[in-house]
Amino acid sequence: MRDVSAPAFWEDLYAQGRDGWEMGRAAPPLVDFVDATPPPRGRVAVPGCGRGHDARFLARHGYDVTGFDFSPVAVSAATKLARDERVDATFERRDIFSLATDHAHAFDGAWEYTCYCAIDPRRRDEYVRTLATIIRPGGWLLACFFPLRGAPAGPPFPVSQAEVKRRLAPHFRIERAFPPVHSARGRQGREWVVLAYNVC
Ligand SMILES: C[S@@+](CC[C@H](N)C(=O)[O-])C[C@H]1O[C@@H](n2cnc3c(N)ncnc32)[C@H](O)[C@@H]1O
Repeated sequence: MRDVSAPAFWEDLYAQGRDGWEMGRAAPPLVDFVDATPPPRGRVAVPGCGRGHDARFLARHGYDVTGFDFSPVAVSAATKLARDERVDATFERRDIFSLATDHAHAFDGAWEYTCYCAIDPRRRDEYVRTLATIIRPGGWLLACFFPLRGAPAGPPFPVSQAEVKRRLAPHFRIERAFPPVHSARGRQGREWVVLAYNVC
């Protein structure tokens, strides 16, 4: 069984060019949301940030962004892109499941995209708990959950709205939830945007 919880799993995908999730640009649901109704500025975490396109987009829009990823290739690429484009964003090579130890309530918000579906589904409660720990009380979680349908053998591991609601409920109050108007090709009809606030 491939261990998606190990950096080597993802490092191999990057090394073999099997990074089919790579869009080379910020996620359309994030762009639409921030353009229309930007969440309050402040420190924002982007877990599983990959090459950092969303993190750079947020930084360009005035957020103080830190992207986290445990793949060295991803973090190097994200750091280089930010430097080349003169964008002020920070990237850290970290296992997101270790963040609660030294980043408690450190962030005003977080952007989640394709990290929830990348981790072992058995760790989703732990992931949501981690988000609730690193986001300050009253802070925001903006997420676009994907894929609403798909093969259970992922990643990406499929997601359902009912499951997300259930897992968020102990920690977050969902303020808005809707299907995005724009999604990347192949993702239309399979994404669900959620804005929630930390009630912990
Ligand atoms: C499907 S990719 C998505 C990357 C990025 N969000 C994007 O949309 O381009 C998932 C990313 O999460 C990272 N990742 C998976 N599990 C992780 C963990 N436990 N800690 C840190 N990063 C993780 C992988 O290295 C990979 O870069």
